[in-house]
Amino acid sequence: MSIEIDILNGNQSWPLAKPLFEAVWPRDVVEKLPWGHIKWANADLRALIEAPHEQPEGGLACHVGIYFRTVTWNGRKVDIGGIGGVSTRVDCRRRGYASIALNAAVQTMRDHEAVQFALLFCEPHNSAFYQSRGWHRFTGDILAEQPDGKIRFEAMAPHVFDLGRRAPLQGTIDLCGLPW
Ligand SMILES: CC(C)(COP(=O)(O)OP(=O)(O)OC[C@H]1O[C@@H](n2cnc3c(N)ncnc32)[C@H](O)[C@@H]1OP(=O)(O)O)[C@@H](O)C(=O)NCCC(=O)NCCS
Repeated sequence: MSIEIDILNGNQSWPLAKPLFEAVWPRDVVEKLPWGHIKWANADLRALIEAPHEQPEGGLACHVGIYFRTVTWNGRKVDIGGIGGVSTRVDCRRRGYASIALNAAVQTMRDHEAVQFALLFCEPHNSAFYQSRGWHRFTGDILAEQPDGKIRFEAMAPHVFDLGRRAPLQGTIDLCGLPW
């Protein structure tokens, strides 16, 4: 079976992604989570997999948001890629969709030569999923912007992926903007 994956502009493709977000992260559930109050950045690009034709509802099966950002690591500027909003529709899980979309997102970052490493944030229960796919736990500090100013971002666990160089595992990364 062949799977089609699209990499689309983040803003333009938001209407496609929105129903999947609302199904996977319903607002009333998210509000009660430790990260429910966080203001997130919008994705620059999205890796999208459509539901297979035999699924009557159609729509998206899987989404991975892709971000590009100049951050600082221990005060030095570095261009990195970000991954966020990884989600697969409940009836399409365990078919490898998230893994395929993640790989496509990482490949898209590799195509941007300046990108040195990738960074994502996840809830602790998803750490094993990413670690088995080559991501490593970043144990340093993350700083991020929020509407009220800069915060230490501790709502989710940071994980890094080696690209142009080996990703740091410690130190301080300032996202220089909203988290993803
Ligand atoms: C996590 C998620 C994206 C995986 O999507 P998926 O399309 O089913 O993923 P894949 O099919 O590529 O991989 C599934 C595999 O990962 C494993 N896996 C899924 N969640 C896992 C977790 N939390 N910890 C460890 N392994 C996990 C599954 O057991 C499965 O393994 P198998 O193939 O050996 O059976 C999906 O479960 C989801 O949307 N969850 C809710 C939203 C969420 O938490 N997203 C992560 C945000 S950081």
